[in-house]
Amino acid sequence: MMQINSFDEYQKTYKLSVEQPEEFWSGIASTFKWRKKWDKVLSWNFSEPNVKWFEGAKLNITENCLDRHLAENGDKPAIIWESNDPEKDSITLTYKILHEQVCRFANVLKKNQVKKGDRVCIYMPMVPELAVAVLACARIGAVHSVVFGGFSAKSIADRINDASCKLVITADGAYRGAKQIQLKEVIDDALIGCPSVEKVIVLTHTRTPVSMLKGRDLWFEDEIKLVDTDCPAQEMDAEDMLFILYTSGSTGKPKGVVHTVGGYMVYAGYTFSNVFNYQPEEVFFCTADIGWITGHSYIVYGPLSQGATTLMFEGVPTYPTPARLWEVVDKHKVNILYTAPTAIRSLMGFGDEPVDGADLSSLRVLGSVGEPINEEAWHWFDEHVGKKKCPIVDTWWQTETGGLMISPIAFVTPTKPSYATLPLPGVQPVLVDEQGNVIEGNGVSGNLCIKFPWPGMLRTTYGDHQRCKLTYFSTYENLYFTGDGCLRDEDGYYRITGRVDDVINVSGHRIGTAEVENAINMHAGVVESAVVGYPHEVKGQGIYAFVIFPNPHSDADLSRKDILQTVTRVIGAIAKPDKILFVSGLPKTRSGKIMRRILRKIAEGDISNLGDISTLQDPAVVEEIIEKAKQV
Ligand code: WTA
Repeated sequence: MMQINSFDEYQKTYKLSVEQPEEFWSGIASTFKWRKKWDKVLSWNFSEPNVKWFEGAKLNITENCLDRHLAENGDKPAIIWESNDPEKDSITLTYKILHEQVCRFANVLKKNQVKKGDRVCIYMPMVPELAVAVLACARIGAVHSVVFGGFSAKSIADRINDASCKLVITADGAYRGAKQIQLKEVIDDALIGCPSVEKVIVLTHTRTPVSMLKGRDLWFEDEIKLVDTDCPAQEMDAEDMLFILYTSGSTGKPKGVVHTVGGYMVYAGYTFSNVFNYQPEEVFFCTADIGWITGHSYIVYGPLSQGATTLMFEGVPTYPTPARLWEVVDKHKVNILYTAPTAIRSLMGFGDEPVDGADLSSLRVLGSVGEPINEEAWHWFDEHVGKKKCPIVDTWWQTETGGLMISPIAFVTPTKPSYATLPLPGVQPVLVDEQGNVIEGNGVSGNLCIKFPWPGMLRTTYGDHQRCKLTYFSTYENLYFTGDGCLRDEDGYYRITGRVDDVINVSGHRIGTAEVENAINMHAGVVESAVVGYPHEVKGQGIYAFVIFPNPHSDADLSRKDILQTVTRVIGAIAKPDKILFVSGLPKTRSGKIMRRILRKIAEGDISNLGDISTLQDPAVVEEIIEKAKQV
């Protein structure tokens, strides 16, 4: 891959990418392996929307991630796995071994009647077999839908049914720090309502007892013994579907964001190689879970497409001690560390001793993703982790964008604390006001949109193209709307200020307020609820729920716990409110709309400026809520 090495080169490359996008992207795409090259680089409109990259091209992404590295780098580590348990040996899969395992498991899928285009749900711990499962799907052209291990049975069932998945790949259980998650049990609960699922393949990991249903459930370890390692890759069209990944929006249930093979591969590979300035012998460590887009693009596809060594960590940064993350960096001589502000803030909370005591001299580049990084965390990361010699790339992007969009390029773009800085080549951001007028010039802020397609962008939302159009392409005509607010300073640098829709970003995880409200409202005693985000020291944002609950237990705390339990059942533990306030009414306009603006202010503890409340149905409820909020 060609890498940008100076700011001057970045500016020239950026100019080319805007003036001649097709020439630019075909040049990048040519560094990948295609069975047949494209007839047309790009055709697009944002009105339907209809976006196609590299039309007519044929390829398989696993030939790019595996086969093409075998001749020269077959013995190079592709994946290094570090267990949750520091005493347990780490595992290294070379490109040769990973290729073999992927082919073998792809044959298992075939043996179980999975064909090109079939959907497969993956609900697994962060173990090498998860990467193997993902790549095995891609090998045979099956569409993977990975669901993060923190989601409930109901959430999984909704996702499985939305995509009519034919097969599920899971494990007995998962370790996460001191906790164990009974994955198979959750899947068993989910599958009660999933008629499309024919087979479940179960990996043994925690050795927790599981039920195995005759005719449906199969052991991973048994299945791989029944097949060989020869599995030619399925030929795919560039625009064939690669995966679905569900994400929360401002309304209704999560949507299945769809990415396609060719464009996604080119974009993930290009951004990985450039932004992190990856060098051939380096170890890249992304701390995300493969259940999120960050893991898809920067643990699996981006690094492997570039022949990199990617480190997969099963555990959490603070287990068994607050020095664990640093020990992992030291143990594996990590060169590039890509993590989230929430992790940095939580580690900061343990003081400087654990980090200062570790040998972090292997580090060369640091990255941040998922939420705005506050200046304090940025400086701590810079001083204590990077020792002021590692560039920090604050990467802004989304599940929908497939790869990094606005970000410094390491050693190229001068950084500025808490700024994602400048758009990467091929990315054309614009800021618009509420009416959709484009705001020109610097020293301005507005809603962040993108005006031109890039190869990694979503193509549709699974099973409902209209929803894709409505959510992303209808707010402003001919623009992709990100849902984020943004500032462009005097230097033309971009700073993401957070969501402008009803999405809360909790520890870098996107959670829709409507989804949480629906879950709370499922509790039998709840009449109505309103959920907003509020600033949280470690999580970035916390979830604050205002709940009308006329007859709580005499011990109100118990009622709160019941509500938490309900949310855990309906969505999963990641959506549990941090604060629940029982109120007798909610501030509503005369037309019955909840005034979230007021609740947000109260949740933030800023009641000095609530604005005009005279138009409310019942202004008195505001007083009541303010009084009660003081007590939590
Ligand atoms: C937020 C994660 C500020 C943003 C890759 C976006 C960020 C949402 C940054 C997408 C960043 C992500 N600075 N905010 N560097 N990166 N975000 O889909 O609000 O899980 O819209 O993708 O996270 O979250 P998602």
